[in-house]
Amino acid sequence: MGDQENAKKTGDAAHGKASEGQTRQQTMWGGRFGAGPSAVMQEINASIGFDKRLYAEDIAGSMAHADMLAATGIISAADRDAIHKGLGQVKAEIEAGEFTFDPALEDIHMHVESRLREIVGDAGARLHTARSRNDQVATDFRLWCRGAVDRFDGLYADFIHTLLDVAEAHAATLMPGFTHLQTAQPVTLGHHIMAYAEMAFRDRARLADCRARLNESPLGAAALAGTGFPIDRHMTAAALEFDRPMANSLDAVSSRDFALELMAALSIASTHLSRLADEIVLWATPAFGFLTLSDSFSTGSSIMPQKRNPDAAELVRAKVGRIAGALSGLMMVMKGLPLAYSKDMQEDKEPVFQAVDDFELCLVAMTGMMADFRPNPDAMRNAAGQGFSTATDLADWLVRELKMPFRDAHHVTGAIVKLAENQKCDLAALPLVDMQSAEPKITEAVFDVLSVEASVASRTSFGGTAPDNVRAQIGAAREKLTAWEKPTVTESKQ
Ligand code: ARG
Repeated sequence: MGDQENAKKTGDAAHGKASEGQTRQQTMWGGRFGAGPSAVMQEINASIGFDKRLYAEDIAGSMAHADMLAATGIISAADRDAIHKGLGQVKAEIEAGEFTFDPALEDIHMHVESRLREIVGDAGARLHTARSRNDQVATDFRLWCRGAVDRFDGLYADFIHTLLDVAEAHAATLMPGFTHLQTAQPVTLGHHIMAYAEMAFRDRARLADCRARLNESPLGAAALAGTGFPIDRHMTAAALEFDRPMANSLDAVSSRDFALELMAALSIASTHLSRLADEIVLWATPAFGFLTLSDSFSTGSSIMPQKRNPDAAELVRAKVGRIAGALSGLMMVMKGLPLAYSKDMQEDKEPVFQAVDDFELCLVAMTGMMADFRPNPDAMRNAAGQGFSTATDLADWLVRELKMPFRDAHHVTGAIVKLAENQKCDLAALPLVDMQSAEPKITEAVFDVLSVEASVASRTSFGGTAPDNVRAQIGAAREKLTAWEKPTVTESKQ
């Protein structure tokens, strides 16, 4: 509302005498325009309210462009030096909060250039040679997304380290494993946490793949068709640490699949965080009692003094809705757009900023929650033994020791579970005679496999839940993490 009122005020001024911003705007593209834009035009057109976040990338792109223009003889060395000095000042003003933003100047590109011209005059007016805002914005936005991916890479390393520490501490802590949220077979907590570590490795890898594809430079594509000036796109690409210039100028200015891919990777990754968050919510409820929530990530109730609420976990569980919504929103914007640039594409930034901000908060909050993770092993152990969780172990014993076909063993075990259910006892507490009433060949030796500990220890197949397996998984994961943190030069450039 406040913003709208402000825009209206600026717009009202447009009907009267031109604002200072409009005068500056006329010098950017207003050569053939008689009157300034209407208030509502300005309001719908201006992106400065959000794209000011691209200022550092915009300035870096302009510096690389100026260097290249000078190296190719398109502008003089003196102009290049003036542009550099001026852009440095613009950056300092923005960072010091001394820069005036004005919706009449539309976007960050026009703001930076206009201020540059005020500071350095004609040299600044030469900067836009052989360039358009179309290749400029595509360059800035790719650089910004690349920066976000690089931040996430470091945050994922912290997250995975934290998961591995929890898994290591609980490699042998028993808990029920569930299917359909019904007690299925006992597992270890370390194994359960390592499942999330595996997801996190893939999420991190998806972001790395996204980075490899997005890291090409659109700069020099100009408006859409390239330029007649003798520019050097390889030079600007290298200066901005892109792997190469984009091969097609139309594609360079009109593609946003890099942003969609980033949001798709974040959407998938946030479904994983959401599932872990949900388990924290579930496990912390007194009915489960598997976890005690730490003070740092829970809140109290204003009416029920006994309550401790897992708000942070609930919000991480929820944020996937906003992140996947942002992806879906930009998909709709991009669908059916003709080549090359259309102003529709200005709508690309807000969803990406929102998804990146939301995801960053989720990842940091989840890392904090896992660092504070306080399981209650007794409650988990107790629950692990309930629900006849070792019934499969009994069936497997019948197969192994009595050479029974698995389907028959399943049937016999079902009958024994029913007997235990009627006697209201665990399988391990059911007298041998009762078991023998279902299958006479069962011996005392069966009790060796009916404890939760024995069940878990027996699951030694690759990727299984036996504590020694879990420790091996953690060791392999630590090696993978170390290798990732020290990528070879070729790998990082892929
Ligand atoms: N603010 C615009 C955007 O974000 C910059 C590109 C404008 N290009 C143009 N031809 N009007 O997309």
